[in-house]
Formats: sequence, C-alpha cells, structure tokens
Amino acid sequence: MKLVKAKKLRGTLEVPADKSISHRSIMFGAIAQGTTTVHNFLRAEDCISTLNAFKDLGVQIEDDGEVITIHGQGVAGLKAASHPIDIGNSGTSIRLMMGLLAGSNFETTLFGDESLNKRPMNRVMLPLRAMKADLNGENDTEFPPITIRGVQALSPIHYEMPVASAQVKSAILFAALQAQGMSTIIEKELSRNHTEEMIRQFGGKIDVTDKTITLTGPQQLQGQEVVVPGDISSAAFFLVAGAIVPDSEIHLTNVGMNPTRTGIIEVLKQMGANLTIEEEDQQNQSADVTIRTSNLQGTVIEGDIIPSLIDEIPVIALLATQAHGTTVIKDAQELKVKETNRIDATANELRKMGADITATDDGLIINGPTKLHGATVSSLGDHRIGMMLQVAALLTQDDVELELPEAVAISYPAFFEDVKSLTLEGSD
Ligand code: S3P
Repeated sequence: MKLVKAKKLRGTLEVPADKSISHRSIMFGAIAQGTTTVHNFLRAEDCISTLNAFKDLGVQIEDDGEVITIHGQGVAGLKAASHPIDIGNSGTSIRLMMGLLAGSNFETTLFGDESLNKRPMNRVMLPLRAMKADLNGENDTEFPPITIRGVQALSPIHYEMPVASAQVKSAILFAALQAQGMSTIIEKELSRNHTEEMIRQFGGKIDVTDKTITLTGPQQLQGQEVVVPGDISSAAFFLVAGAIVPDSEIHLTNVGMNPTRTGIIEVLKQMGANLTIEEEDQQNQSADVTIRTSNLQGTVIEGDIIPSLIDEIPVIALLATQAHGTTVIKDAQELKVKETNRIDATANELRKMGADITATDDGLIINGPTKLHGATVSSLGDHRIGMMLQVAALLTQDDVELELPEAVAISYPAFFEDVKSLTLEGSD
C-alpha cells in the first residue's frame, strides 16, 4: 500500500476507544452479576476477539451497534466452550483470561495467531500455578495454545513481580478475586491500573498503596455502566504527526488521561512540543489535546516512566528522528516481547527511510534531525509499527510503500482514513 504524504495536517479528530478498558469491560461484565452496558466500545480486532471469546464461554452479549450489553452471571455462570478459542493477536485477552478462567469449573484452550503463539506466558503461568491454578502451554512449553483446567480452590498469593506488566498483574487479580483469602501483589514499577480501577467500579474491594496491591477473595462483582474514553495510545500517532509535520495543528478530543498512561505527554513536553490540554474531565479521565508543529530537542527516557508509555515507544522513536540532538531510550527491554520485537522492528524499518537509529539491549539511540526518504517498509504484522511508519511517511517527498498494512485493524481499523482526513482539511 502506498502511504499518504502531507505538506501540513489540520483538523479535529476523535480517536478510537481505549483498547485496555474495552477488553476489561467485557471481562468484568462477564464475571459480574447482572447487566453491564458498555458505551464507546472499541470495535477493533483485538477487542472483538475478547467479545467473541466470552460468547464462546456462554455469556449472553448483545451489540446494537451503539451499546454493548453483557448479561453477567458471575464466574460460576461461565460455561465450557465447545471448541478451542481463537484469541487472534491479543496478548491482553489471553493473559487476562488465563487468570479469569483459573477458577472456572471447566477446561478451556486458548490459541492465537503466529505472533501470539510465540509470546512468553510463563510470566502469567508461574504466579497462577503458585495459586494452585492448573494450566499448561503446548507440549509443556510456555507458549499457546494454553489449556486452563479450572480449579475450585485457588490459593491467595504474595507476589513480587519480576516484570513491570499490567497484563501479569491483571491476570493475578482476576484469579485473586476467586481465591480464598488475601492476595498481595508488589509491582516492580507502576503499570496501567485499569483493572484495579474497574474492580472498584464494579463494587469490589481492593487496596492500592504505592506499588502494593491487596485484595481479599472471593468477591462477587456487580454489573455497571462503562463509558470508554479515547485511547491515548492511538492519539499518540497524531500527537507525533502534529509535532513533526510542518505547519500543522491537530485537535484531538476525548483522549484518555489516566495518569498511568500519560508518559507520552510528559515526553512531548520535555522535548519542547507545542501542546495544550483543555476540557479536562476528571470523572471520565479524559481531555482534549491540541498539538502544533514543534521545535523539538532530544531527551533521555528511562526508568519508571517506561511502563506509562511502553506502547508509544516506536512512535516516540520517530519523533526523536526529528528532534535536535540525541535521544536515548533505556529500560524498555519489554518491547522485545510485544507483537513483534519492537526495538528491532522500529530501528530496522526507520533505518530503511534514512533514520539515524540504533537498537540497544534495552532500548534505542536516535540522532536527529534527519530527513526521511521513501522506501519499502513493513508493519511486520504489528499494528503499532504500521501506524508509526505511516506517520513517518507523511514527511517524505518520494513514495513509501507499506507491506502488511492490514495489521492496523488490531487497534485502529480507520487509521489510514483518519490520517487522510487531516491532510484533506489541510489542503488549500
Ligand atoms: C496492556 C498492557 C501492556 C501493553 C498492552 C496492553 C493491558 O502490556 O503493552 O498493549 O491492557 O494490560 P504489558 O502489561 O505486558 O506490559
């Protein structure tokens, strides 16, 4: 696919709904008692995988095109699927469902696409086994297909997390909700806290003090109304595009502003971006953000900010190619086990377009500014790499050809149309 170029970007955009919250809205709705309604659910491939999985598990879910309605009957109301469940590309679905199904009263097999079937699952399986869960990867490896044999008597856990991962934390919390007694999780670094917030929203009891989370099970949650804000991880592509394309001004509405997710805003400010935040809605944790063409400086991104921008690093690396000086990204080794090895994918694909970028053991080093040029590049099947490359292509004079563009539908099916709309509004 030939990517769009732009002389300038102008206009207003409402980015799609948050992927993390959309997944969890289905999961909590399914294990709660009573009706859950979800407004602004993300209709993208990953979240549809979660929705279909819970239908396979016997949960009645209706979609009138606007609102999703889930008729939950507690964990005990889930039923064995008639076949192994295909969870597609979605790491969040498979990892959280391992914890959620650990206390069911049946066996489930979850499998994914080629990328998901290579992603590490011991990080979830080991703590769950310590809770007496019974689950295995294929041929006793840690890789999917994963078979979960539900056990009725899960034990609580005291767990110091070896990785900063919201998926691992959330899987343990789903199991802890069903275990007998008090579980304690100590995070390595603060990671996104949507699971903790939604346990509270669904009437559960959870205590969070800095990096220590305690929860006493078993708990029965109650159905709720969920309104999903826009995804800051999707907004990120336009925040970077607006900052690096000349003569641009983009207004993004209803962007999710959960403080465990806003690392990219801090980095943009640190690099000198021309960015304003308005219409902050504390209740819905959202705001409108305006970004204008910016004069950027290189920076160092490391330590505890990393989990709050982990999915944005590929596009932050692109941002750094247009900043003056060197940008160093460290402590981001988790990027190696995402949908692709995103350290290598980012460095290799951007280098094809002329970027001065080096992969390190735990991050990237980028020197800027560089003039990017046309090339044939690939998403490598990774949605966020595909979208980052489209943003890079906006800057080139000659054509950029993107292989495997369809990957963007994992989180943002209308991405290319939305980019185009900003170039049209920007045309004279
Ligand atoms: C997610 C957590 C993150 C993130 C992923 C979504 C979630 O993964 O990269 O896109 O919804 O919990 P890790 O928790 O494995 O870092």
